[in-house]
Amino acid sequence: MALRIVATRPNPALVTLPWDTPLEEWGDDVVVQLPRGLSRHVVRIVRLGSDVYAVKETREHYAFREYRLLRDLRRLGLPSVEPVGVVAGRIGKNGAEIEPCLVTRHLHFSLPYRSLFSHGLPSENLPSLVDALVALLVRLHLAGFYWGDVSLSNVLFRRSAGAFTAYLVDAETGELHQTLSPGQREYDLDLAVTNIFGELLDLQAGALLDEAVDAQSIAELVRSRYEALWSELTGADEFTTHEIWRIEKRIERLNELGFDIDELDIVTDWDGATVRMQPRVVEAGHHSRQLQGLTGLLVEDNQARRLLNDMAAYAAHLGSGGEDRAVVAHRWLTEIYEPIIALIPSGLRRRLEPAEVFHQVLEHRWYLSERAGRAVPLLDAAASYVEDVLTQRPDEALAAEPPT
Ligand SMILES: Nc1ncnc2c1ncn2[C@@H]1O[C@H](COP(=O)(O)OP(=O)(O)OP(=O)(O)O)[C@@H](O)[C@H]1O
Ligand SMILES: [Mg+2]
Repeated sequence: MALRIVATRPNPALVTLPWDTPLEEWGDDVVVQLPRGLSRHVVRIVRLGSDVYAVKETREHYAFREYRLLRDLRRLGLPSVEPVGVVAGRIGKNGAEIEPCLVTRHLHFSLPYRSLFSHGLPSENLPSLVDALVALLVRLHLAGFYWGDVSLSNVLFRRSAGAFTAYLVDAETGELHQTLSPGQREYDLDLAVTNIFGELLDLQAGALLDEAVDAQSIAELVRSRYEALWSELTGADEFTTHEIWRIEKRIERLNELGFDIDELDIVTDWDGATVRMQPRVVEAGHHSRQLQGLTGLLVEDNQARRLLNDMAAYAAHLGSGGEDRAVVAHRWLTEIYEPIIALIPSGLRRRLEPAEVFHQVLEHRWYLSERAGRAVPLLDAAASYVEDVLTQRPDEALAAEPPT
């Protein structure tokens, strides 16, 4: 049997990995040594030149299934890890078959939930982790994806201006349908609550989370937050024709949540006295699309919101309210954003993503200004942030789970 590689954009160097050796035995020449939590499969993070991949050894059927599903999710614009390929037909040096591998691109600056807590995330942040997971679940459900294994360990978190964005990492049990029934969604929700409850208890048992946190009520939060977001994104509104402004208001509310309405259903009754409105298709990424259009920067939605707000403050400060937005955006990029990012020494670039550093610099300036009782200039705040805060942080470009 010959080695068979099915890949999206094959990196020729993939062939050079030691496929004739079980993943567990791969050495330091390719494997990035990181502490790991427990997982059913052998998973290793591997470096190939400047690329970093996650390699998971699994049964052939599952490897191809997960590969196809991850491709579908990416095509639908949903946040998941990016599949690279499946390597099958592996034969060991002793002639025995070895299980195939699913290769995904390592998600840069992603944090498994356990490593967030081992990096000292305060328990007050739990609701914002829940919100990130809920936003992911709602988006998956809107697209017809039934997950079948919702848990904190099956997502990766990326920081997003004080909040988080969750990415799906394990699609093995997923199914893509045209639409999901309420029963299917409910099943995923039940599973989420049960799994998260267990995972929080595990964190407490491992002294990574404060004993005083009520795991049950945090887990239950998943349900209420899910229902609130689902009805905000899909619910119908009815009002009289005198209240037509409510359409604008609803769109603004969705924008504020980071969604754009792609298709809206508006029905008036036969005498035209009442209007019924319901979003049909919503698309996440409202702020990140705007920021990318203006500056080319591609960042998480909440980071984009923060950067857009800073840009608006900058425009107000310049008194350039009437100026073309693209011109202001260019000035902000070259006079504010880029000089701040340029202050990060190359040795600290792996600590946090640039957009997250920018967000933290803004927070730091606020804190310094409050303490000093006067407005501290941004560049001074940035220098102080790098010196006093960034140097104290762990690298997060390639984080992994702490040992269990
Ligand atoms: N592309 C990736 N980027 C970063 N980390 C990854 C990636 N793929 C996998 N991982 C890490 O490996 C862990 C295990 O991956 P995955 O959940 O697919 O394996 P598993 O063996 O099915 O786990 P489980 O115990 O849930 O069955 C993830 O939680 C994540 O920390
Ligand atoms: Mg998993």
